[in-house]
Amino acid sequence: MNDTFLQACRGEKTDYTPIWIMRQAGRYLPQYQKVRGNVTFLELCKTPELCVEVTLQPIDYLGVDAAILFSDILIPLEAMGTTLEFHEGRGPVFPNPITNQADLDKLIIPDPNEHTAFVMETIRLLRQELQVPLIGFAGAPFTCATYLIEGGSSKVFWETKKMMYTCPELFHAMMDKITRTTTLYLQAQAKAGAQALQIFDSWAGVLAPCDFETYALPYVTQIIADLQDSGLPIIYFANNGATLLEMSESTGADVLGLDWRINIGDAVKRLGRTAVQGNLDPFSLLLPKDELKKRIGNIINDARDAHGHIFNLGHGIHQFTPPEQAKAAVEYVHELSCK
Ligand code: CP3
Repeated sequence: MNDTFLQACRGEKTDYTPIWIMRQAGRYLPQYQKVRGNVTFLELCKTPELCVEVTLQPIDYLGVDAAILFSDILIPLEAMGTTLEFHEGRGPVFPNPITNQADLDKLIIPDPNEHTAFVMETIRLLRQELQVPLIGFAGAPFTCATYLIEGGSSKVFWETKKMMYTCPELFHAMMDKITRTTTLYLQAQAKAGAQALQIFDSWAGVLAPCDFETYALPYVTQIIADLQDSGLPIIYFANNGATLLEMSESTGADVLGLDWRINIGDAVKRLGRTAVQGNLDPFSLLLPKDELKKRIGNIINDARDAHGHIFNLGHGIHQFTPPEQAKAAVEYVHELSCK
């Protein structure tokens, strides 16, 4: 069993820097496209045998040090009673966005073992197969709320901020419901066999620091506090969150995910004993190999004083990335960090 990733999460010294790649299972891999050719994305997410297959694809091909459950952050939101669709080329769509208290009242706090049984089954099956640790995950409440309020992806978050500023009670009631759903969902993943849990706050960076503190931070902090009993390392990734670093650390997360907009060494200086994960710009994978290798070496060197460093991209791998560039990146991280 390769435990390097878990050692780094706990801030222990490792023989080399472990790496996994955000969104490592997905469309950039021809193996994934093949599976996806026969089913819709949601069918894939709800078929444990296929989820196992695509989770394992990058482990075998890239040689990464951790696996991440194949699912989506929007799955538990559908379980709350919303309608979720994925439109080719447009991404996720919630055709009935939440606009008022009556809409919110219709949502349930689902029993994860009943309404998302396929996720728990995928985790159990994966644990029988894997030689590297398995990361479970969920979206952070603020990021989840944006999808429910906007009805899908957004660029300016008009509806979300309108609700925050003009109907704060409704916004907070919604955050509370998503928070309780997410806590139960992650606790169930821990019980099913996940060995670390990552919380994705993909849109945290669109908030002013004072708004992050009021409208997003308390809910993430609550979830992390309620997960302490699981004993698992918790990774919190606030995308575009360089200005939110100290507040992110105050959540009690064991590891902070970092995007590429901050120098990883500068981030380490601002943190206490929290481990870091990141932070190569996903588009750096397009660089010629010698330059890619140099950048990877710089990140490893800049992170040398970290209390645990897990190498990763600063956000998800782009769907047109040549897979062999990702494979080369994994080799460079292992080679350059080997002590
Ligand atoms: O290896 C893995 O990480 C796969 C598991 C995974 C997926 N989504 C599969 C997926 C994970 C961890 C996610 C997280 C996720 N989903 C996030 C947080 C991370 C981030 O990127 O910020 C978010 C915001 C979502 C919501 C989501 N899902 C969007 C906006 C989209 C469409 C745009 C896109 O990137 O494709 C998805 C679809 C999705 N989720 C795909 C995959 C493999 C592509 C679906 C397809 O096959 O067509």
